[in-house]
Amino acid sequence: MAKSSSVAPESRVYRWLDERLGISEIVELAGKKRVPEHKHSFWYYWGGITLFFFLVMCVTGVLLLVYYRPGDGAYESVRLITYDIKFGWLVRSIHSWSANLMVAAAFVHMFSAFFMKAYRRPREFLWFTGIGLLSLSMLFGFSGYLLPMDELAYFATKVGLAIPATIPVVGPWIADLARGGPEVGAYTVSRFFALHVVVLPAMFVPLLGIHLALVQKHGMSIPESEQAKPEKARKSIPFFPNFAMKDMAVWLIALNVLGFLAAVYPWQLGPAADSLMPAPMDIHPEWYFMSSFQILKWFGNWFPGALGEFLGIAVFNVGVLLWAIVPFFDPEKRSGVWGRRVTWFGIFVVFVILLTTIWGYAVLPAGK
Ligand code: HEM
Repeated sequence: MAKSSSVAPESRVYRWLDERLGISEIVELAGKKRVPEHKHSFWYYWGGITLFFFLVMCVTGVLLLVYYRPGDGAYESVRLITYDIKFGWLVRSIHSWSANLMVAAAFVHMFSAFFMKAYRRPREFLWFTGIGLLSLSMLFGFSGYLLPMDELAYFATKVGLAIPATIPVVGPWIADLARGGPEVGAYTVSRFFALHVVVLPAMFVPLLGIHLALVQKHGMSIPESEQAKPEKARKSIPFFPNFAMKDMAVWLIALNVLGFLAAVYPWQLGPAADSLMPAPMDIHPEWYFMSSFQILKWFGNWFPGALGEFLGIAVFNVGVLLWAIVPFFDPEKRSGVWGRRVTWFGIFVVFVILLTTIWGYAVLPAGK
């Protein structure tokens, strides 16, 4: 067979590139990385799935930028994308579905890291950067929700911004800064747009870089049940190409799910926002804020007025803080009893989130 001009290790092209870019060192490093294989290995895919949805969001986000206009023309530009531009509806639908699936995958990834105790020494900063990434992902969602400036987006943002406004001293200032004035309007859209396409990506990308670099440095953690086995009995597979191929297969499944949802349930655009119209009865935030929304409402019912809102925010923030600093509570295997208590705490958190989310939807009044 004739020799092709491929970039096989023995080829001249490869040697030329290798001398300048050090490719063989990277290939050697990739060859050394191994991924543990055991009955919980399934959970190792979720960080990659989250990453996949983020990449899809970047590509489709750039495509949307071609036609989207912030400010007064926001609604009209999204109407154009949805109804007039060829495949505009599909790009918009993929972007929005991908955003939701990314947050969902990040939650699964966080809870699986929690229950596998992957936050323990020396992976504390993996956990902290992860918490930062999830918070930024939710802010991506919140800021993106307003951009079409339809009725639901307008009123949900109004309700959403009323929450930080109740924080004593700095609250009203934060809400004013986000709104760009006393009311949600064209200035708010411009600010949310800047946040959505410049500020948040500028924070998210470096943080993600640190997160992934730390995964490289520490390798994947091994759950306690596996650690109990003697080292010789533990199985692992090379990351490249074995695990990477499996990762790609999982990404393909994720792409199918995304394509199905985006095409069969296209993202809707409601009527244009009108501040003079009454708010729809069933106004509510995105599903991933429903739990906190419901907890705040519950506190508001028990302690009417600003006290209830403040107490709700305080309790909620203490809960999030406790969750974020769990590596300090459960730094490494101390005693089985303590570790199990922390696991029960995690189960309790999952239960509260699920319950308050379902409860939040159950008590929503019917739409107008
Ligand atoms: C939101 C975007 C995120 C992306 C794109 C991302 C990406 C990844 C990837 C690709 C891995 C390696 C493979 C894997 O375990 O799945 C990983 C590992 C890890 N991530 Fe994330 N992650 C994100 C959020 C989070 C969150 C919210 C947390 C927890 C608060 C977290 C904590 C961890 C930990 C502890 C590991 C190491 C897992 C182990 O060693 O077993 N990550 N992440």
